[in-house]
Amino acid sequence: MKTLSPFSVKETNSFNVESIAPRAYFPKTIDDLVELANLSLSNFYILGEGFNTLFVKETTPIIIKPEFKGIEIQEHEHCTIVKAAASENWHSFVGFCIEKRINGLENLALIPGSVGAAPVQNIGAYGVELADYCQEVLWFDFKTKKTMVYKHVDCQFDYRESIFKNSLKNKGLIISVTFCFPKAWQANLSYAGLEHLAPSVSAKKVMDEVIKVRQAKLPDPHLLPNAGSFFKNPVIDGEQWEMLTAEYPDMPSYPQGDGKVKVAAGWLIEKTGLKGYQDKGVGVHEKQALVLVNYNAEQGKYIVDLAIHITNKVKSVFNIDLEPEVRMVFPQGEKNLVEYKNG
Ligand code: EPU
Repeated sequence: MKTLSPFSVKETNSFNVESIAPRAYFPKTIDDLVELANLSLSNFYILGEGFNTLFVKETTPIIIKPEFKGIEIQEHEHCTIVKAAASENWHSFVGFCIEKRINGLENLALIPGSVGAAPVQNIGAYGVELADYCQEVLWFDFKTKKTMVYKHVDCQFDYRESIFKNSLKNKGLIISVTFCFPKAWQANLSYAGLEHLAPSVSAKKVMDEVIKVRQAKLPDPHLLPNAGSFFKNPVIDGEQWEMLTAEYPDMPSYPQGDGKVKVAAGWLIEKTGLKGYQDKGVGVHEKQALVLVNYNAEQGKYIVDLAIHITNKVKSVFNIDLEPEVRMVFPQGEKNLVEYKNG
């Protein structure tokens, strides 16, 4: 198996910060995974393309960066089954499907990252999420040293959540994702920026429109380092929502059907006056306040300091706790913002 010691993550994280791993492993076969499992590593981080990861300090744990490639298609009467290996690029995979007239993922075009990272945080955009089409995930378990299948229902998908970032974290890794695309396809135009399209629109046209919306709103991480939305949109209870909406009738909100309401974190941040704010080489993007950008900071800690500043402000103005969707990696492994603040 390919191994590098030491390994700089600078080129493989979209915040473009420098951090050094003592070693990196690049498994591309099941035998490589068995070899890795036999090492019984205690502190490591599994890295896809690094579009949702913030390396906070000068050093990182050991990196495991899978290199599984390949796409298989199976035609059935009512659906097309597509199995994509974890290290395929997500946007190229979406484009590949649409070109072959396999429709469904068009709303998820241009999301940066790999196929294997997609189920971990159940990527979603413009009214569609990965869970809508994910049939199963092929997993390698480090303890049993065997592959196993997680069916859709076992993946515990939720808004930016899955079993892979919770109880299965660091217990193994994703080898491939299998999708089921029903042939009876209908464009999903529920998102405000897509409503003008005719219901008979082609998936290719939807994809082109999504690309246009994203390019207009979101900074290209290759040009201005960022990881997309830094925070999740918070879900608050109905009572708090009623109080807030009486004061801020224009607050964008999305009822969740259980009495709770999801509110737009970008709007909350903008209302605190932090949109466009810059300090120590990092900042809040001027067009989309949910995106934190790295202008020229060398170290991830400045982004975390900014994230703490934002969460404190949002807490004091709205009494809402923002939770990062970006995964933060420290020399001892992953930590959330609360664990970091508590030392
Ligand atoms: N808004 C503001 N100010 C801002 C940003 C947003 O007022 O600075 C308002 C918008 O006007 C809109 C609402 O907030 O009324 C929601 O904004 P937007 O439609 O841009 O979407 P979002 O909730 O900020 C989420 C996802 C994005 C995804 C879009 C579109 C999360 C954390 N983010 O953003 O996903 O592309 O919806 O579906 O759920 C990502 O996860 O990296 C990502 C980019």
